[in-house]
Amino acid sequence: MLFLGISSPFGVGSLEFAQVIGAPERSEASTNELVTFNKDVAPIIFQHCSTCHRPGQAAPFALLGYADAKRRAKQISDVVRKRYMPPWLPESGAVEFASDLSLTDGQIRLIDQWVNESLLKENPSDAVAHTKAGRANMYFGDVGKAMDHFLAAVKADPKYDRAYFELGSIYLRQQRLPEALEAFENVTGFNPDDYEAEGSLGIIFLRRRELDQAEIHFRAALRLNPQDKLASNYLGRVLEAKANLRN
Ligand code: HEC
Repeated sequence: MLFLGISSPFGVGSLEFAQVIGAPERSEASTNELVTFNKDVAPIIFQHCSTCHRPGQAAPFALLGYADAKRRAKQISDVVRKRYMPPWLPESGAVEFASDLSLTDGQIRLIDQWVNESLLKENPSDAVAHTKAGRANMYFGDVGKAMDHFLAAVKADPKYDRAYFELGSIYLRQQRLPEALEAFENVTGFNPDDYEAEGSLGIIFLRRRELDQAEIHFRAALRLNPQDKLASNYLGRVLEAKANLRN
C-alpha cells in the first residue's frame, strides 16, 4: 500500500494512478460486462452533449444516437478526456446551467471504455486500445479484466512500453516483485526516458533490500527528471539506510 496512495508511485502520471486507486467500484454485477452504448454511453451523451449537438444549435454536427457517436468515437473520447467538451462556457443561449454539463471522471472513463472496446471489435490486436481499455477497467476496480487487456497489448505489440508500465504497476501492487521487475525493465528498455519506470525499479530493489541497485535507479530517475520529488525522497532514505549500515 505504501507506494500506492497519494504518497505514491511513479505511476501513470501519479495523479492518474492515484485516481485509479481511489476509484469507486462499480457494482459486482456490472464489472464483468462490456460497456454498451444504450445502457452506459447514450444517457451521458444525451444529457451532456445533445443540447448543443443537434440541428439548429451551436455545435457543428449532431450527436443524437449510436450512428453519430460511432462515427466520431475516437474524437469524442479525445475531447472528453482533455475536458475540451462539454465546453466550460456554453455558447450563449444554448444551455442555462453550464455546471450541469460537466462530466465526472467516471463518465469520462465510461465513454473512453466504450470507444476502446469498439475499436477492439474492429481490430482485436490494437495495443493502444487494449491499454486504454485496461486503464478504464482499473478505474472501475476490475483488475482481472485490466490485466487481460494489458497482456493482450504486449502480445499485440511486444515493444509497447505503456502496456508494460501498467502491468508492472499491478505486479508491484500485488507484491509480485520478479514480474514487476521484468515489466519495468521492459519499459526502460523500450523507452529509456521513462523516469517513472526508473523510480519503480528503485522501489522494487528497495523492497528487496538491495540498496545499491535502488540507489542507481533513483539516481537515474532524477537524471531524467530533476523535479521528481518521490525519487529524491526515496534516494534520501536509501542513502540514510546505507549510512546506518556502515555505522
Ligand atoms: C454548450 C454547447 C456544447 C456542448 C454541451 C457540447 N459541445 Fe461539442 N462542440 C460545441 C461547439 C460550439 C463546437 C465547435 C467549436 C469547437 O470545436 O469548439 C463543438 C465541437 C465538438 C467536437 C469537435 C471538436 C474538434 O476538435 O473539432 C467534438 C468531438 C465535440 N464537440 C464533442 C462533444 C461531446 C462528446 C460533448 C458531450 C460530452 C459535447 N461536445 C458537448 C458545443 C458543445
